[in-house]
Amino acid sequence: MPVLKKHTGIVESQAEIAEGIFDMWILTDLTQYAKPGQFINIYPKNKATLLPRPISICETNLEQGKLRITYRTVGSGTTEFSNYQAGDGIDIMGTLGNGFPVEQAAGKKVILMGGGIGIPPLLELAKAIGDKSRVTIIAGYRNQDLFLQEDLQQYGRCYVATEDGSIGTKGNVMNVLESHQIEADLIYACGPMPMLRAIKNYAEMNHIDAWISLEERMACGVGACLGCVVKTKHKDHHSHVNNARICADGPVFLAKEVDI
Ligand code: FES
Repeated sequence: MPVLKKHTGIVESQAEIAEGIFDMWILTDLTQYAKPGQFINIYPKNKATLLPRPISICETNLEQGKLRITYRTVGSGTTEFSNYQAGDGIDIMGTLGNGFPVEQAAGKKVILMGGGIGIPPLLELAKAIGDKSRVTIIAGYRNQDLFLQEDLQQYGRCYVATEDGSIGTKGNVMNVLESHQIEADLIYACGPMPMLRAIKNYAEMNHIDAWISLEERMACGVGACLGCVVKTKHKDHHSHVNNARICADGPVFLAKEVDI
């Protein structure tokens, strides 16, 4: 279950690790609750920006009580966060969402697939699986401006796709799967919707499960805007419709149970 606790964390460090991609460690008590695939809401100090920004947890360090986020600047909120310096307070709520079911990976060969800003949550997931010999990580980027590669390589066998072909396989994560004939018993994925659709189809054709995080479709992150509804196979108990809110019921779903 997600833990709902709002408080002010302290920025420990921040760096721009690729163009427009920022990497921040936050000292916070929320670290103890964090699961791979969960996210936190961050509240801009500029009150003209009303809604918090949901940002996925990239990594945690329990001993030091800190968590890491890696995010892209896309608007006024994330641009404000990118200006925070070490020692600044940061208003956060978490931990939110269901996260990836790590236990499903037990004894299986798994592929972790991430596209763009969907790559960061795979790091904590790969760490949690904790058996490099069974983990393949495929990361898709726009170009050679890679990020998190050195971190990911510690926890699995890594492949890279770039849209412009400057590094690794030209194309997307699916092209890597085909060109290297990688097989697995289970897939976990996070990234843009066309990528997740392709993974859903691939998993169904190959009769394997794929757990996909639909976090790109989130807006407010707090169940308020209904901008994140997805059709599911199961009926909602209250409304009796086949809808789920990605922020409250996800963001991770079994691919075959959602209509994307
Ligand atoms: Fe607003 Fe889910 S993101 S209700």
